[in-house]
Amino acid sequence: MKLKIAILAGDGIGPEVTEATQKVLRDAKVEIDWEVHHAGLEVVKLTGNPLPPSVVEAVRKNRIALKGPVTTPIGKGFRSVNVTLRQTLDLYANVRPIRSLPNVELRFDVDMVIVRENTEGLYAGLELMIMPGVAQSIKLTTEVASTNIAEFAFRYAAQNGRKRVTIVHKANIMKISDGLALDCARRVGEKHKEIELREMIVDAAAMTMVRDPNRLGVLVTENLYGDILSDLGAGLVGGLGIVPGANIGDSCAVFEAVHGSAPDIAGKGFANPTALIQSAVMMLRHLGENVAAQNIETALTDVYREGNVRTRDLAGTASTDDFAAAISRKLAS
Ligand code: NAI
Repeated sequence: MKLKIAILAGDGIGPEVTEATQKVLRDAKVEIDWEVHHAGLEVVKLTGNPLPPSVVEAVRKNRIALKGPVTTPIGKGFRSVNVTLRQTLDLYANVRPIRSLPNVELRFDVDMVIVRENTEGLYAGLELMIMPGVAQSIKLTTEVASTNIAEFAFRYAAQNGRKRVTIVHKANIMKISDGLALDCARRVGEKHKEIELREMIVDAAAMTMVRDPNRLGVLVTENLYGDILSDLGAGLVGGLGIVPGANIGDSCAVFEAVHGSAPDIAGKGFANPTALIQSAVMMLRHLGENVAAQNIETALTDVYREGNVRTRDLAGTASTDDFAAAISRKLAS
């Protein structure tokens, strides 16, 4: 049966990496009926709204979307499409596996997962100018969201053979908001005795990620810390071109890379599509398409292991299309 999936290519390098990912899915013989939608910069020019309600409804209806990055203006302009989509569809869990690939030179092999609360905290961007020269950001933390994300992290750990969940917080300073999230994680941990719960302050977690990331297992944390630590994680495994992600709710899921629209390299045809291809692998597993997911993952790993075709971010010369074609050749062999 054909899968029905909404696709938002995004902007910047989005269309390039999305096209490469669709090619790989096609060559893996996954039958998909794509429903194409647009959001972001171009859409705001045309409609005045970067995320028209029809796009949100399309994702809700299809329940699954593959998404390229969308640019968010800095310090002015429209609200992030990503934040709006995640909040509106209650995609409360952002899952980002940080895993090394063969032949990418690293200080050590990394295998950890970041589970980021995706709907509240400072990242929700609730802020105001109280008076000239004084701005305030509101860090909203709720028991419901903190409990849901902790439950998700423990469930994920159990389903993926992980023995440890580390709750990352700053409850020594934000005793009330991070203190609430920490208490929720402790309560959830009580119900999952088979999995060890560790607690770590976010600054120590950043240091641990650089020295001994695998100690953390499944790292669960609030929105902004998760945002920052996942780019740190990407740096550990070769950069933003590599790390995939999934925004998961109870009724829909949106799969996208950790990276943004990379305006510095957009339109040049040499962005690394690995992160979005790996996001598509997560999507296939989510849909129970385990054979196709494994085939793509094996083909991608083989391309890295052989090391002849790699994009410029990893000191290679391959274009985005060359890289996708190398995976397709593996799939056909
Ligand atoms: P970025 O992730 O777009 O780029 C950071 C650096 O990594 C750049 O040097 C870029 O060339 C490189 N890079 C990123 N992805 C790459 C890939 N696939 N292959 C090779 N190199 C890659 O982060 P930046 O520059 O901070 O953000 C640009 C825009 O993207 C902003 O408007 C931001 O709001 C947006 N953004 C959107 C996201 C989304 O839609 N999910 C996530 C993160 C940022």
